[in-house]
Amino acid sequence: RNIHNIIVAAGSGTRFGSGCPKQFQPLAGRPVLMHTIDRMRQALPGSSILLVLGEPHLKLWHMLCDKFGFCSPTIIAGGSTRWQSVKNAIDTIKLSPEEEGIITVHDGARPLIDSALVARIIDGLQLASGSIPATPVTDSLRILENDGSSHPIDRSIIRAVQTPQAFDARKLIKAYSLPYKDSFTDDASVMAAAGYTDIALVDGSLSNIKITMPADIDIAAIYMAHETS
Ligand code: C5P
Repeated sequence: RNIHNIIVAAGSGTRFGSGCPKQFQPLAGRPVLMHTIDRMRQALPGSSILLVLGEPHLKLWHMLCDKFGFCSPTIIAGGSTRWQSVKNAIDTIKLSPEEEGIITVHDGARPLIDSALVARIIDGLQLASGSIPATPVTDSLRILENDGSSHPIDRSIIRAVQTPQAFDARKLIKAYSLPYKDSFTDDASVMAAAGYTDIALVDGSLSNIKITMPADIDIAAIYMAHETS
C-alpha cells in the first residue's frame, strides 16, 4: 500500500511562550521539525511527506533549511485549526482508482518517534480503519461536573493518545469531507465522527512527548541522549 505522510507544523505555539514556535526551536543542534521529518523518512523510506506550515513561518523554514543543508518535503499552507491544516494537506492527495493507500498524520512537535513505533501503527492497520499509539495514564483522574464538584474515575480504562496515527486513505479523506467539530483533537476523533470507530490501539511510547512548554525541549534532549547511549 502507498503511504502518504502528513506532518502538521502550522501551530503558532502560544503555550510555548516565545517568539519562535516550538517546532523551530533547536533540539540537539537542529530544529525540532528536522528531527521529526528525518525520523519519519527513516521509518518509511520511499513514502511521500507533506509538510504543513503556517504562512508566517515559511521564510524562517527556508532559511533554516539553507542553514542546515536540509531538503524540505513538499510544503502545504496551514489553516487556523489543526483540523484545517490536516484538511489542506488531504485535499492535495489524489489516490489512483485502484490505490488502497494509507495516510499517516503526525504532529511536527513530536520529534521522538522511532521506526518501531511507526511499524506498529502501520501493522495495526491490517485489521482496522485506523491505528493509533496509546499509553496508560499515570496520574489519578477525576471527572468535573457542571456544579463544580468532581469525582474520581478508574484510570486503568483510560488511554492517552499520541501521533503518528495511520488510516485507510479513502476513509480518512471521507471523514475530512464532513464539517469541523470543536471536539476534534486528533484524526482518530475525526474518523469516529464519520462512523469509522474500528481503530486499533497500539503501544505508544512514553518518550514520544509533544513539545509544548520550553522545558519539554530539555526533556526531549535527555530522551535523545538515552537513545544513543
Ligand atoms: O497545538 P497542538 O500542540 O495541539 O498542535 C499539535 C500539532 O498540530 C502541532 O504540530 C502544531 O504545529 C499543529 N497545528 C497545525 N495547525 C494549527 C494548529 C496546530 O498544523 N492551526
